[in-house]
Amino acid sequence: MINLLVTGGAGFIGTNFVHYWMEAYPNDKVVVLDTLTYAGNRANIALVADKPNFYFYHGNICETGLVERLLQEHKIDTLVHFAAESHVDRSIAGPDTFIETNIVGTYSLLKAAKKIWLDDGLNQNRHRFHHVSTDEVFGTLGPNDPPFSEGSSYAPNSPYSASKAASDHLVRAYHQTYGLNVTISNCSNNYGPYHFPEKLIPLVITNILQNRPLPIYGDGQQIRDWLYVADHVHAIDLVIKKGQIGECYNIGGNNQWSNLDVVKFICQRMNEKFASDAHLVEKYPQAKKVRLGQAQDLIAYVSDRAGHDRRYAIDSIKAMCQIGFKQKVTFEAGIQKTINWYLSNDTWWKSVKDGSYQEWTPAQFEAKQVNNGGR
Ligand code: NAD
Ligand code: TYD
Repeated sequence: MINLLVTGGAGFIGTNFVHYWMEAYPNDKVVVLDTLTYAGNRANIALVADKPNFYFYHGNICETGLVERLLQEHKIDTLVHFAAESHVDRSIAGPDTFIETNIVGTYSLLKAAKKIWLDDGLNQNRHRFHHVSTDEVFGTLGPNDPPFSEGSSYAPNSPYSASKAASDHLVRAYHQTYGLNVTISNCSNNYGPYHFPEKLIPLVITNILQNRPLPIYGDGQQIRDWLYVADHVHAIDLVIKKGQIGECYNIGGNNQWSNLDVVKFICQRMNEKFASDAHLVEKYPQAKKVRLGQAQDLIAYVSDRAGHDRRYAIDSIKAMCQIGFKQKVTFEAGIQKTINWYLSNDTWWKSVKDGSYQEWTPAQFEAKQVNNGGR
């Protein structure tokens, strides 16, 4: 049995991870620490909130004392660190919170882990600090470059990727210097349920439903390597269970698409969906273009992102050979699942888009936080 502390467990990937873990390992204890920035949403974890082995703490990873308390009180042996500011465009508009959360916050977690696990000796021989990072730390690829491997040089280009690169270096240093048991995974672009609709794929799906423009930055020929979120979450499980201490693992979809092709593909799938389901036509009267089978007419070219990385691609051979990582969901199937999820969860994305999700505190959270002393 594992006692898990999950930072950022109310965000996109953290939520998927918490749901996965609680189903796969129902006897493990899962403690979520999340400060609920605009990207964190209590509704995401409402499904598990009343389970006796789930705890939610509304707090910041930069509060080292709080992290120490959680590690101690819950006898945590495994910390999985998702909490971050994660949107490149926001990092360009205002890097401060990226430096604070991604660098100082990771440092705070490392300090707390060293104190409790190494200095105080709790779970000294049986602990793991898993740091969830990104392929963006490696910078950008030319059209014919081989995909990023674990040996690729770090060359981050945005304040977001630079802050993630800095945090990766700190995690590595805590292993080399103090002997903290760390692993790092660097994953490519994820998509799937609970993805905040400021990112490309959920923005396009929900904008089609609202008959709003689908913004394409620059020429739309930038390439990303897309991975369905469930495959990423499973890969993290493999790294925790089978990964070597001190090692990094690249996780990718082997699935390179230009942004324009991704958007056109979603438009095509949404047109087909509406053509074959009269109920959808009734449910979304405002979705004029997709009702006519013309979602692609919403595509709008806008000015490019500053410092926009041209291409990402990941070589996952190490994870495949050493820990048995294998992508299960094809892009076609993953996009279909994702579209279906957004169509079935319009209360979720509408409340996110209009901001009302930030007011929502279901009763089970209030009760749980009082009972377990959470904040
Ligand atoms: P997200 O923005 O959806 O969620 C981040 C979560 O962290 C939110 O719940 C937020 O409230 C919480 N948080 C932010 N600052 C915090 C703080 N100071 N203290 C406590 N909680 C805080 O992000 P995501 O897309 O789920 O990404 C999760 C992790 O995975 C990040 O570290 C990101 O760099 C990494 N990653 C993301 C992708 C991707 O495609 N989304 C790909 C590779 C790696
Ligand atoms: P995004 O989902 O923000 O992820 P990241 O920047 O971490 O890769 O963007 C994916 C790609 O889509 C990226 O090349 C920027 C581009 N993009 C658009 O063209 N239009 C948009 O409205 C958004 C949000 C992104």
